[in-house]
Amino acid sequence: MPLVSLKSVLEGAEKEGYGVGAFNCHNLEFIQAILKAAELEAAPVIIQASQGAIKYAGLDYVASLVKVAASSTFIPVVLHLDHGTDFVQVMRALRAGFTSVMFDGSCLPLEENIALTKKVVEVAHAMGVSVEGELGRIPGTEEHITVSAREAFFTDPQEAAFFVEETGVDALAVSVGTAHGIYQGPPEIDFQRLKELKEKVPVPLVLHGASGVPDGDLQRAVTLGVRKVNIDTDIRTAFVLSLRKTLAAAPQEIDPRKILGPAREAAVEVIRHKIRTLGSSGRIKEGFLYKTTPGDLP
Ligand code: G3H
Ligand code: ZN
Repeated sequence: MPLVSLKSVLEGAEKEGYGVGAFNCHNLEFIQAILKAAELEAAPVIIQASQGAIKYAGLDYVASLVKVAASSTFIPVVLHLDHGTDFVQVMRALRAGFTSVMFDGSCLPLEENIALTKKVVEVAHAMGVSVEGELGRIPGTEEHITVSAREAFFTDPQEAAFFVEETGVDALAVSVGTAHGIYQGPPEIDFQRLKELKEKVPVPLVLHGASGVPDGDLQRAVTLGVRKVNIDTDIRTAFVLSLRKTLAAAPQEIDPRKILGPAREAAVEVIRHKIRTLGSSGRIKEGFLYKTTPGDLP
């Protein structure tokens, strides 16, 4: 089916109270792994491209690959721009066919974040594309950050309600204690803050930095209103560990398919586990016929 908007997928999740995995892709194998996992679990899915992935693979390549993937499946697929910080790049993503864009103005003063996000919303909505905004800072690492400094980054519920009202975003990324990348210690999510955010913010909440967060905490976050859950590091880790294992076992191997194939399968397993954890497994009621993704190794 054609790509769908983030708004439509999150509306379904909100109605039935589950979370949707937003998985980062970096190349063909990641896209195939995400789609295969979503098909096996009959779950709606968000495939997202970060700034690094776009730099590596190219915006148009990513868009074309994901469109082909979506067109061959019964699964609703959203193609999402992750952490867009440049207005021009967001416009290019719209032209390339992304059905959702994140404008991350979280480093900017509130007024500037509102003004730029609003501008993105105006154009994106005119094209039927959803917008995710961000308020509060999600650190790259929690190392060397004291608790009070950490909380200074957190999203204020009152301010979040104002931000959503002013900008018209369809989803809001919030900072409640998660961080991007590998955690130095166990993540501590401020669930009370999440509860207050859910009460005050009228759009679905987005949790970034979800890799390394224990399953139970992810489920609690979903219960408290998180509907989009961003996962990258855990998939990369599984992929690269598999590559290392294959190469260690067969150092003479020069067939990239024999090295990348098992890594792709390792990614599928991690993504399936996340989908089940978030409760989105089995939510697609039609077309339960499993179709293999293009390019599956014989
Ligand atoms: O935007 C992407 C994410 O927030 C992924 O974070 O690599 O910690 O899973 P992660
Ligand atoms: Zn993120």
